[in-house]
Amino acid sequence: MIEQRAPGKLYIAGEYAVVDPGQPAVIVAVDRYITVQLSEGSQVGRVRSSAYGRSPLVWVRDDASDRIVLEHQPYDYVFAAITAVEQLRSERSLPPRYYDLDISSELDDVSGRKFGLGSSAAVTVAVVAALDEFYGLGLGEVERFKLALLATIEVAPTASGGDLAASTFGGWIRYASPDRGALRAHRAAHGVSATLSAGQEWAGSGVTRLAHPDALQLLVGWTGSPASTERLVEQVRTSESRTPLQPYPTFVADSRACVDALVEAFARGGAGAPEVLGRARRVLQRLGASSGITIETPQLRDLCDIAERHGAGGKPSGAGGGDCGVVLADADLATEPILREWEANDIRRLSLAPHPASGGV
Ligand code: MEV
Repeated sequence: MIEQRAPGKLYIAGEYAVVDPGQPAVIVAVDRYITVQLSEGSQVGRVRSSAYGRSPLVWVRDDASDRIVLEHQPYDYVFAAITAVEQLRSERSLPPRYYDLDISSELDDVSGRKFGLGSSAAVTVAVVAALDEFYGLGLGEVERFKLALLATIEVAPTASGGDLAASTFGGWIRYASPDRGALRAHRAAHGVSATLSAGQEWAGSGVTRLAHPDALQLLVGWTGSPASTERLVEQVRTSESRTPLQPYPTFVADSRACVDALVEAFARGGAGAPEVLGRARRVLQRLGASSGITIETPQLRDLCDIAERHGAGGKPSGAGGGDCGVVLADADLATEPILREWEANDIRRLSLAPHPASGGV
């Protein structure tokens, strides 16, 4: 049996803007995981997962066409990952094999509500890794990330892939996305293998590892209300042209300035990062106000206000609208008052730490 796991993630700064190719974000991988167990199967492939609904995905392979035929499919990302790897396998003229996948997740609470820690990305990365091992494709980390991105954008074409990068490479990263439209077109025209090694389509994108900021504490609060990233990103995109108060390019420039300042603060071990987080919060608030979208829900506002009142910096993490808020505090700040007030306001602390960086990038 093969077992691969991939960590969840938290956006620290740069969300929404990172959807534009080349625009940076800071993201951290966290020590909660999705685990995929792969075992050799027979005539059908089954995906079992308590985290992804009740009915199992069942797919069968049509040996005549060497294609996977879907019979039941509640798991978009899993199937997209299987399809991408199978296409690569077929392009390399390797014989198809049967397999079952068992998926378990630490990125949901006991009743199955998602924390908003990037479960779609983690499951995609873990399935790609398990199938890479199963077929002996010998992909490096960068290729696994690229393959996971090619799979993801078939399901969510606007996804930046920042969560996939954090899940693949671990640690704290600065991430800039490639032009996903160009990647999809290249894959459709030339296949997966050629797209992985394409030059121009990946230009301007990249992952830079950031040193762990020793002078900081990371706190994460969960609102208990799951949000739909895809819906929120779509709303922001469709409102882009209707923002006379704050044109979208101003938001993107402000976001980049916060990411740059955060990267500089991290280079100093984290000194000054809580203030930068506060600035990044205001940038997101202005985006919400000018586009009419609730990024900072009342609970996220409480979460961040409490952190700020006690001398830390806080902001919604990711698309907002629910999910988690992230707080950075200087290492010597007493955080008990923040945690006490969170508890009194129904904000649950998620105890987690950065997942260590791999040697990959
Ligand atoms: C969501 O976690 C972060 C966004 O920037 C979307 C994305 O990067 O794909 C809002």
